[in-house]
Amino acid sequence: MDKSAHPETKKILTPLNDILRKGLAEVAEYVTPISKLATKVGEEVFLRGWVYRQRRTGNLSFVVMRDGTGIVQCAVNKENVSEAEWKAANDLYIESVIELVGTVVEDKRAPGGIEVRVNEFNLDFKGDSFPIGKDQSTEFLLDVRHLWVRSQRIIDALKVKAALLDSSREFLKERGFLEVQTPLLTSSAAEGGSTVFSVDYFGRKAFLAQTGQLYLEALISGYPLVYNYVPSFRAEPSRTPRHLSEFWQIEPEMAFYNQEMNMKLQEELVVHYTHELAKKVPDILQKFKRDPKDLLSIQAPFERMTYEKAIEVLAGKGLKIKWGDGIGLDEEKLLVEDRTQPMFLTNQPKEMRAFYMKLNPDDPRTVLDADLLAPEGIGEIIGGSERISDYNELMQRLKEQNLKPEDYAWYIDLRKYGSVPHSGFGMGSERVVRWILKLDSIRDAIPFPRTINRLEP
Ligand code: 4AD
Ligand code: MG
Repeated sequence: MDKSAHPETKKILTPLNDILRKGLAEVAEYVTPISKLATKVGEEVFLRGWVYRQRRTGNLSFVVMRDGTGIVQCAVNKENVSEAEWKAANDLYIESVIELVGTVVEDKRAPGGIEVRVNEFNLDFKGDSFPIGKDQSTEFLLDVRHLWVRSQRIIDALKVKAALLDSSREFLKERGFLEVQTPLLTSSAAEGGSTVFSVDYFGRKAFLAQTGQLYLEALISGYPLVYNYVPSFRAEPSRTPRHLSEFWQIEPEMAFYNQEMNMKLQEELVVHYTHELAKKVPDILQKFKRDPKDLLSIQAPFERMTYEKAIEVLAGKGLKIKWGDGIGLDEEKLLVEDRTQPMFLTNQPKEMRAFYMKLNPDDPRTVLDADLLAPEGIGEIIGGSERISDYNELMQRLKEQNLKPEDYAWYIDLRKYGSVPHSGFGMGSERVVRWILKLDSIRDAIPFPRTINRLEP
């Protein structure tokens, strides 16, 4: 290690003790985020953060620190610090809180090519021995999720999710969409009673929203292009890598849109954010073994495959399946396992689709719906349809599905006043992140996953 740089460094900072005597707001002004260190080579900086790991070789203690923006190796040389500082630099745990003043140097041997040679060191909070080590089971990591959310992997996935939301909002705003809020406490099930959570609402039974869609359909008569980004709740009893009982979807709803226009908008949205992510977060994508080029190659139009054709294709792959059978997770996987582009699965039988979907005039056994299936075996990331705008057709479909019109009174009412053709879709943000980052499980696309057997932390 080249020690010569150290004594020659010009003191440009106030001594550490003077900084630490100040109030939090003043201290904040001294902090250099780790992500900015590459622009500070040769300068002295003040860093604060958490211990990521520590190792000692002779008179050197290598304290690797993280601050949320990055990680950096900080070298404490026994000869350059006081006895108390040397002791502190060796008597700490993973996740202890430290503060230091040091000089930024380029060092090829350090992770990231940058090292901070420590001039002054303070152990601010030692705490207890951190319970998370290497090679821990998935179940244990879920048990200590409140601590595991500090991991680079989780934070990186959240950064990608935030970039996905930014670029989706950017796209919708540019198209003239208005972001709105729909309620989470509702009086009826919109997506089928079997997966609804009920809660006590001042002595009445209420349901946690499975979708904001029905409310968005009311709002499009006030403003023609709206969307929400809200949590959706599903009492999904299944343990699959793609189901959460609480997830967040982006739901655009458009007046005067037919199903073809609806699918075109989805294509444009998906092309927009895949390309944006490839440009905005290529380094993170690569950490997850996602080549940004895969995302840049996503191109519209996406193939449209009818349900009828899908049944043929699946039967051709040796599956025992006939018209009227459901297309679930396994079937979707078979349809898209060898693809690199998303694909629309359209016109499913009306019996297995929601009551609000408009019948297909070319084949009234089916509806004007589409699920967008992500490639590489991922499957559904978007569900959308043209909605019924006609009063009588809606009443008929409610009856066929054994739903009580009184439970949907206000929704039916919308068909009496200025009802127009309209369409919309819902895109599950965690499903998209799972696809983009090739995550084994959807759980890593949300900080505190809710599944059938997990409500804590
Ligand atoms: O297909 P879904 O059930 O459709 C709706 O809720 C419509 N009302 C949306 C609309 O048209 N406004 O759900 C929409 C999307 C799915 O394609 C999927 O990406 C995601 O939400 N999703 C889930 N994500 C995680 N866990 C679950 N249990 C999910 N259920 C649906
Ligand atoms: Mg669906």
